[in-house]
Amino acid sequence: MVNVLFVCLGNICRSPTAEGVFKALVQREGLSDHITVDSAGVGAWHIGSPPDSRAQAAARQRGIDLSKQRARQAVAHDFERFDYVIAMDSQNYGDLTRMCPKGGDDRLFKFLAFAPQLGINDVPDPYYGGDSGFDGVFDMIEAAAAGLLDDIRANHL
Ligand code: 4NP
Repeated sequence: MVNVLFVCLGNICRSPTAEGVFKALVQREGLSDHITVDSAGVGAWHIGSPPDSRAQAAARQRGIDLSKQRARQAVAHDFERFDYVIAMDSQNYGDLTRMCPKGGDDRLFKFLAFAPQLGINDVPDPYYGGDSGFDGVFDMIEAAAAGLLDDIRANHL
């Protein structure tokens, strides 16, 4: 089993979208028995909340349902449970580096490293922007999800 955790700041916009998109891809590829997918936030503000309605709407337009997800906070133990701990941006990556137990940082990745063709390092935080930000974020997440699955296939399956 390969266990994947996506992490952003609030766990209500970017990482739930990544969880939904990657789960759908894994299902489509018939790999649900081999790959588990979860998401979490560095911050605690939104624990127990469903994804932001704008993130849900952007995902729904692309056929992905985020409504059943609930936010949780990332914890150090996640580095033992998950093979991939994937930060949405450099700030999340830095926070996770500080939380990570010694030797666990070989499991820590930046999501857009799996989509080098985009030439972007960070999935931008859409929380304080308009609705269009959520569509752009969705496109980046789709591209990186495909690259991540390639990486898992190459290294684990
Ligand atoms: P996310 O977006 O990290 O993509 O879930 C945010 C959601 C909420 C906040 C910040 C970012 N906030 O400050 O409440």
